[in-house]
Amino acid sequence: MTFDLFDNLDDPAPANPAPEPLADGAVVLRGLARTNAEALLADVQAVIAAAPLRHMVTPGGLTMSVAMTNCGDAGWVSDARGYRYDRTDPLSGQPWPAMPPRLRALAEEAAALAGFAGFAPDACLVNRYVPGTRLSLHQDRDERDFGAPIVSVSLGLPAVFLFGGMRRAERPQRVRLAHGDVVVWGGPSRLAFHGVAPLADGDHPLLGRARINLTFRKAL
Ligand code: SIN
Ligand code: FE2
Repeated sequence: MTFDLFDNLDDPAPANPAPEPLADGAVVLRGLARTNAEALLADVQAVIAAAPLRHMVTPGGLTMSVAMTNCGDAGWVSDARGYRYDRTDPLSGQPWPAMPPRLRALAEEAAALAGFAGFAPDACLVNRYVPGTRLSLHQDRDERDFGAPIVSVSLGLPAVFLFGGMRRAERPQRVRLAHGDVVVWGGPSRLAFHGVAPLADGDHPLLGRARINLTFRKAL
């Protein structure tokens, strides 16, 4: 195992492959996605070129501040009819772009390191945050099978991830996620409430004033 101390100007801590426990069934894998982040981001840019980022509207009529798109067999969508997974991009009427193999491999590796061997994601939600963007506490519960974990990859500006319990009222932990950090939650934590605090301003060497988060799910 080699540690690359100089591959990230934003957070010089070395990648640490030892899972950092967050809760029962939830871990942070520090820096797992850092060494090949540029290649991962090139894959993400190709996805965005085929299925542009957009601000979805909640069933209650609010426009989300996070810009979103998807790749994989299914994509998460929200509109006046509700939240769901759809095999087609409502903007184009075409299937979502395929999940790039490098992204899939990272998600499978992260899940295995967290104790969820055999994870086979079929959906990847791409979230883009700019300074001030936040994501309020929610559960990921539109997937058919809660037996599979969620794998979340952070790129670009650091964020404060809020990781709560099974009830919205429980005070969430505040976890700083830097470029390349990966969080996995499943098993007893699969339906934990989570969100993202308003993004602080900054300038990331690869992404500028933005954070991109990828969440891999087994949706169908
Ligand atoms: C999500 O819950 O979909 C995204 C979480 C994050 O951006 O870290
Ligand atoms: Fe979520």
